[in-house]
Amino acid sequence: MEKLYEGKAKALYATDQANEILVVYSNQATALNGKKKSQIAGKGALNNEITSLIFAYLNEKGIPTQFIRQVDEVSQVVKALKMVPVEVVVRNRLAGSLAKKFDQAEGSPLKHPTVEYYYKNDELNDPFVNASQLSALGILELETSDELEAFALKINQALIELFDAIDLDLIDMKFEFGWDSEGQLILGDEISPDTCRIWDKASQQKMDKDNFRHDLGDIIPVYQEVAQRLRSYLTK
Ligand code: TMP
Repeated sequence: MEKLYEGKAKALYATDQANEILVVYSNQATALNGKKKSQIAGKGALNNEITSLIFAYLNEKGIPTQFIRQVDEVSQVVKALKMVPVEVVVRNRLAGSLAKKFDQAEGSPLKHPTVEYYYKNDELNDPFVNASQLSALGILELETSDELEAFALKINQALIELFDAIDLDLIDMKFEFGWDSEGQLILGDEISPDTCRIWDKASQQKMDKDNFRHDLGDIIPVYQEVAQRLRSYLTK
């Protein structure tokens, strides 16, 4: 199969269907924009399963995603998309870079969810940008930014409800979007503990990649716990 792209945690391959691609999840974990790197056995399979379960749930709720079907332990078939060149971060509580920016405690409440854009460019370290800059630089029309914001907030709400049902608090998350062959804007990439902060409701224990980023502990047992809770809630 022709390899179309190799990212930090996934590789994309062409299929015999023009509008479908195969995504293969790897065991590579990275942090600090790729400066910290490890191979963690089992991570690819867990993120493939978690993303498959979550995207199938969103598809069923009428939220259009790139996901078509899981193929095997580490791969899934998805719709080919023309990717929007920004990452969209939504936050429900203060953590990570925003907690650091304002020197406030992680976990502090926010009055309402925030939506942030980061321009996807490795050489520039994915800088923060706002809708006005994106428009002025000719990267995204203002209407598209508005559409992304509304879409991201809607997905956030659906995910808060999903995670709440399995006793997890959704602290923040990163989305990527793209246009399908009909020009419709849909959710792409992955939603996993690599791309969200999720804390156990009762203990407030981190159940996500912060365990790797900050050397707090092994990520496999916590990713397994997230997968197990999703599996038993969504496939019963
Ligand atoms: P941040 O607090 O580091 O800005 O991250 C916010 C959320 O976005 C967090 O859940 C991790 C996720 N994220 C990614 O998935 N990829 C990225 O490149 C970055 C910077 C954040």
